[in-house]
Amino acid sequence: MRILLTGSNGLLGQKIIDILVQHSDIYLIATAKGEARHPLSEKFIFEPADLTDFGRLSEIFEKHKPDVIIHGGAMTQVDICEDEREACDKVNVEAVREIVKLCEKYNTHLVHISTDFIFDGSREDGYYHETDEGNPVNHYGLSKLKAETLIRNSNCSWAILRTILLYGVVYGLSRSNIVLWVKKSLEEGKNITVVNDQYRCPTLAEDLAAACISAAFKKATGIYHVCGPEKMSIFELAARVADFWHLDKNLIGEIDSLSLKQRAKRPPKTAFHIEKTQKELNYNPHSLEEGFAILEAQLRSF
Ligand SMILES: NC(=O)c1ccc[n+]([C@@H]2O[C@H](COP(=O)([O-])OP(=O)(O)OC[C@H]3O[C@@H](n4cnc5c(N)ncnc54)[C@H](OP(=O)(O)O)[C@@H]3O)[C@@H](O)[C@H]2O)c1
Repeated sequence: MRILLTGSNGLLGQKIIDILVQHSDIYLIATAKGEARHPLSEKFIFEPADLTDFGRLSEIFEKHKPDVIIHGGAMTQVDICEDEREACDKVNVEAVREIVKLCEKYNTHLVHISTDFIFDGSREDGYYHETDEGNPVNHYGLSKLKAETLIRNSNCSWAILRTILLYGVVYGLSRSNIVLWVKKSLEEGKNITVVNDQYRCPTLAEDLAAACISAAFKKATGIYHVCGPEKMSIFELAARVADFWHLDKNLIGEIDSLSLKQRAKRPPKTAFHIEKTQKELNYNPHSLEEGFAILEAQLRSF
């Protein structure tokens, strides 16, 4: 199977590479902006590409004729997407439009990664099924919902995997994630303020990577919800980071969303029903503390 991976320098992308390089029967082509940051770059084919360079995307499809594309590349910083809407749409919507056309042309199965932020998060319990309607509260969510709509209306074979608040460690990460940020700040003895009225199901990047690969191998079709097994506030998540690594919890202050004034509005509560993904993609997410233990082992070995 020939698998093309976009966003290969990102958190999800690097975890997918970690798994796929162990499959000798997979011909893996990875793309990212600039140089490959994964240290095992001799074990896959690397094609540098800006996702907004549609001619380049077309060249890569023509050259490698992938059976499956796992599209993990995206503009993911929510506040930047709010401020730079045109740039956000170019990557998160227009590049997807192009990828869909190429998938139709080359008969490539598309595994697309989407987000809980397509929902408004206003439900009392926060839980969403795959069939629920999107209603984003910020531009990032809107761009990802537009991409989903393009895919759903296309003639290609597709799966959309939506996920929530990824955490994990990777090589040369261009941006941090909540778990690493809290850990590092507390280790440095810094006071931090963490939002206490936004609820999420934190997802170990390895778990999402495994679900993407399962969807690719099976050429699964439809929408799948992929997240960690437990819903918690971001404040609770920070406290559990402190507990796990025996750091000073007193350094963590609480703030509510109204006072925090993030540039882009956030959905208050997002959590997923994951039974369909468990059944059809053999998804079996780690608990939060199991995830932390995996991070700890990786941080020691890096
Ligand atoms: N992280 C989360 O909490 C979260 C939650 C829900 C859904 N998701 C979705 O999950 C997917 C993977 O997210 P992630 O956490 O792995 O994000 P990430 O670490 O930010 O990775 C995304 C990658 O896309 C690349 N990229 C951005 N613009 C590009 C362009 N114009 N051309 C080529 N590459 C470009 C980035 O490159 P650089 O590294 O060079 O900037 C980055 O490596 C995304 O679709 C995201 O929307 C993530």
